[in-house]
Amino acid sequence: MSVIAPDFSGRTVISFQHVWKRYPNGTDALRDINLSVPEGDFVFLVGPSGAGKSSLVRLLIREERPTKGKIFVNGVELGRMKRRKLPHFRRKVGLVFQDFKLLPQMTVHENVAFALRVLGESRQVIDRRVARALDTVSLHGKLGKYPRELSGGEQQRVAIARALVHAPRLMIADEPTGNLDPATAWEIMQLFLKINADGATVVMATHNREIVDLLRRRVVVIEDGQVVRDDRAGRYHEALQASALRA
Ligand SMILES: Nc1ncnc2c1ncn2[C@@H]1O[C@H](COP(=O)(O)OP(=O)(O)OP(=O)(O)O)[C@@H](O)[C@H]1O
Ligand SMILES: [Mg+2]
Repeated sequence: MSVIAPDFSGRTVISFQHVWKRYPNGTDALRDINLSVPEGDFVFLVGPSGAGKSSLVRLLIREERPTKGKIFVNGVELGRMKRRKLPHFRRKVGLVFQDFKLLPQMTVHENVAFALRVLGESRQVIDRRVARALDTVSLHGKLGKYPRELSGGEQQRVAIARALVHAPRLMIADEPTGNLDPATAWEIMQLFLKINADGATVVMATHNREIVDLLRRRVVVIEDGQVVRDDRAGRYHEALQASALRA
């Protein structure tokens, strides 16, 4: 097993310190998680079904709270964050899920603009930011379409644009390519790479072995609620030792 030491040379965006999660039914989903993510990192969370990846993501956006331990995001301990600060916090973290979570009765433009409207931004600001976000995901031709009129890949692009209008410094994705064919999954990954190259930190839970192996980014493997591997330029499965190959 290889474990890298936490990197404190740059700014630490995410820090899990001895985090445990036990659900009310007694399931121990996470057991003593320690994890540090520096600014600008691109982290794949991998591991078998039921390992605890989504639980980790839900703790990270304070949809759930740890049973024990502390989680810091941008230096703020989530457990101490006031409830009224949560909406702002969640907006500033770009969230992307497997099932897109678009509002079906709203057009592409309305889906991306929605949170800005709620914030009371002016029409001009909204239109400019929505246009820029849709431009990033190459979707401006679809402004007036409804989610049901779009392909899965296009719907995921809308979900990414919806996150991008808030200029997030941290993007968290839980199986964003889970419902997509390989070519479309690859296009969506390219978008995340671009967002990361523009400076955002990306944390992504995925089962997509091909993409993880191709990109050779940081790979954190979770098994049975624990971090069992943390590789800087990792693969989905641990590479066989050269000695094992020779044997
Ligand atoms: N709300 C919940 N209540 C009780 N147990 C839960 C809850 N959510 C998840 N679990 C359990 O916690 C463990 C971790 O689940 P989690 O969804 O985090 O896994 P995962 O790694 O995301 O799996 P997958 O790859 O299938 O998405 C599993 O045993 C699961 O059954
Ligand atoms: Mg999951």
